Amino acid sequence: MRKDIAYRIAQAVHEGLFHGVLVIDSEFRSVFLNQALCDMWKVKQQDVLHHSVLDLFCNGNVKKFGGAYQGPLIETMVTGREISGSEVYINMPGQKEGKWFLVNTFILRDESGQPEYALGNYIVIDKFKVFENKLNAVNMNIIKAFCKAIGVRDIYTMQHSENVAALLVGLTEYMRLSDSEVTMAYLAGIVHDVGKIGISEEILNKPGRLTEVEYEIVKRHPSKGADILQEVDEFATLAHIVRHHHERYDGKGYPNGLQEEAIPRISRMLTICDAYDAMTSVRCYCSPHSVEEALEEIKKCAGGQFDPELSSIFIDFIRECNSGGGMRPALQ
Ligand SMILES: [Fe+2]
Repeated sequence: MRKDIAYRIAQAVHEGLFHGVLVIDSEFRSVFLNQALCDMWKVKQQDVLHHSVLDLFCNGNVKKFGGAYQGPLIETMVTGREISGSEVYINMPGQKEGKWFLVNTFILRDESGQPEYALGNYIVIDKFKVFENKLNAVNMNIIKAFCKAIGVRDIYTMQHSENVAALLVGLTEYMRLSDSEVTMAYLAGIVHDVGKIGISEEILNKPGRLTEVEYEIVKRHPSKGADILQEVDEFATLAHIVRHHHERYDGKGYPNGLQEEAIPRISRMLTICDAYDAMTSVRCYCSPHSVEEALEEIKKCAGGQFDPELSSIFIDFIRECNSGGGMRPALQ
């Protein structure tokens, strides 16, 4: 029986390697998942077993908005093509943070050669590893050092930077941008506020409104951050993105008052992700907005603070994430 073969393979992988294993049938129903996967995904076996993974995690859709498959396992079942070494960020519905996985898929065919079962093997990987492959290791270590420097000074900014990076990666993937742009988006998210290193903690964590002088000091952080990054030749593009992450689409931002397409595209995306995370996170001086309130605010500021086209894509992206698309970055 084909089903027995699927179970046997899954069991062997489970016993031998402690990897997460999921087997789906041609109707996308899960017929096997091991305990390692339940632990990684923080789900109960009975909540997933015999249910359609499309309904559970992908809002019933085989493909995401933009045309990409919801994940390697679903792609394997639809196309009959096995996939090896696919790096995916999986965020289960209702969970604030996701994880990076390295996924390999295998196909089991029926007598007529049609895909009958697809098996996915999931290994948790350090998120830095994904980008390390695409960037010189020395440069990646510099980025990690920046993260540490931010974290030592200011835990909120570090957490916020990680959230913005995850949102940007999700948005760039949603827009089907190139691999190099996805990597650039991740790095920009991580280091965008590195210039805050030079600002005193009293100003950074001030509960009330900033004075004019204090605000002028805070406004220097994009240029300061860009100046730091520019010290490394390979970070010229990254520095340019960071320098302009507080520009506004209508030209009223800082430091240079750039307008519309004169602002780098990733900077325009970063501005939106930055604002969304700031609105939906708990900070020392205000209570968080709900997701819908934050999206409403972004809509209201489209064309003023934000690029209108990117705002509308971002709103679609967040709505799709929150309606059950599981293969997504960390979201509120
Ligand atoms: Fe900033």
